[in-house]
Amino acid sequence: MTDGMSHIEVLEDAARLTERAAELIEAIAADSIKQRGVFPIALSGGSTPRSLYERLASSPIDWQFVEFYFGDERNVPPNGERSNFRMADETLFRPLNIDPSRIHRWMTEFNDQAKVVENYRQALSKIERFDVVLLGLGDDCHTASLFPNTAALNEDEKLAVVNDVPQLGELRYTFTYPAINSARNVMFLVSGAAKAEAVAEVHQQEIDIRQRPAQGVSPADGKLYWLLDSSAAKLLRKT
Ligand code: 6PG
Repeated sequence: MTDGMSHIEVLEDAARLTERAAELIEAIAADSIKQRGVFPIALSGGSTPRSLYERLASSPIDWQFVEFYFGDERNVPPNGERSNFRMADETLFRPLNIDPSRIHRWMTEFNDQAKVVENYRQALSKIERFDVVLLGLGDDCHTASLFPNTAALNEDEKLAVVNDVPQLGELRYTFTYPAINSARNVMFLVSGAAKAEAVAEVHQQEIDIRQRPAQGVSPADGKLYWLLDSSAAKLLRKT
């Protein structure tokens, strides 16, 4: 199903959602490695992708050609409970024994926001564009760490910024729209009834990226996938 914005797939449950996402990533990875000899992917954080990363740990992807990045990171140490890197490290990198030189995380231990961001921009300069950017959706329609009414929403040149998020009372590190929208494939993975309102708002309400940041995701020359389970999709009008 498409709604003009994107290709929407509704899977019966979270397990099928995970399987579909894994299959899609495996297909894109095989094509990217065949075409360009490298598969740069930006992982998303939060809890939804955990089962996907666990599933990918048994994927036949030729991992030696994969460059891993993170679409956003919390302002915590890399071994912190809330670290997006830590979650991926536990579920994917360690099980696959990924060479650390191909894992490009936000170096939050620098404790100097400008240095963290500059370091990440340098890491991003190593690739031309992402083959896949994975994204989640918050119940406030945020994605990555692009939260409603925050400064990062206005960034239209830099690819990576630090973003003050007053509604959380914390700083976040995040890709900007230019980084996300330059990808060949952007893939939202959204699961659970708690996200149904946000999914419906993003797809059915007028475009207002300050209120609904996920609406600003629109790859200029790429595909946009919304992979939803039936619970997350339950308020979408059937078209
Ligand atoms: C983060 C994510 C964020 C996440 C959504 C959904 O760092 O938290 O990048 O954008 O994808 O908040 O999170 P859940 O999957 O935990 O619902």
